[in-house]
Amino acid sequence: MTHAHITTWVIALILFFVGISMQKGGKTKPLKMVHMTLRLFYLFILGTGIALLLGLDALPGSYILKVIAGIWVIGMMEMILVRGGKGKSTNIFWIQLIIAFILALYLGLNLPLGFDIF
Ligand code: HEM
Repeated sequence: MTHAHITTWVIALILFFVGISMQKGGKTKPLKMVHMTLRLFYLFILGTGIALLLGLDALPGSYILKVIAGIWVIGMMEMILVRGGKGKSTNIFWIQLIIAFILALYLGLNLPLGFDIF
């Protein structure tokens, strides 16, 4: 399940950057499709994340932080695409995206399930 979880957020990240480049290129029609697909992948990330949580006997604080960081990443991707589409400033959300992503990555990899590479 951790593999499925990683696959979903890697694909989401790719879709996000494809969306950003389409937005910069002014390709609004294909951007809509990419954005909708990305939103579907938010649900997959959440679904696989929740499936991982369901495999636990207890819910330590580190897991709660991991979930918050994960949801934060999703929220920031959505904010950047939506605000960017309206021509509004996205700088503060990019900063948050980077922080939340590093946090989600760090906590995810340090928590005991999965690859345990650190
Ligand atoms: C885009 C956002 C996210 C990123 C970048 C991310 C990243 C990761 C990474 C790198 C792992 C470690 C996998 C492994 O060691 O094999 C992981 C595990 C996990 N993620 Fe996420 N995740 C995200 C969103 C979420 C969300 C939204 C949830 C909750 C609904 C969630 C819940 C979990 C859980 C419970 C684990 C297992 C932790 C463990 O290894 O013990 N993640 N995630």
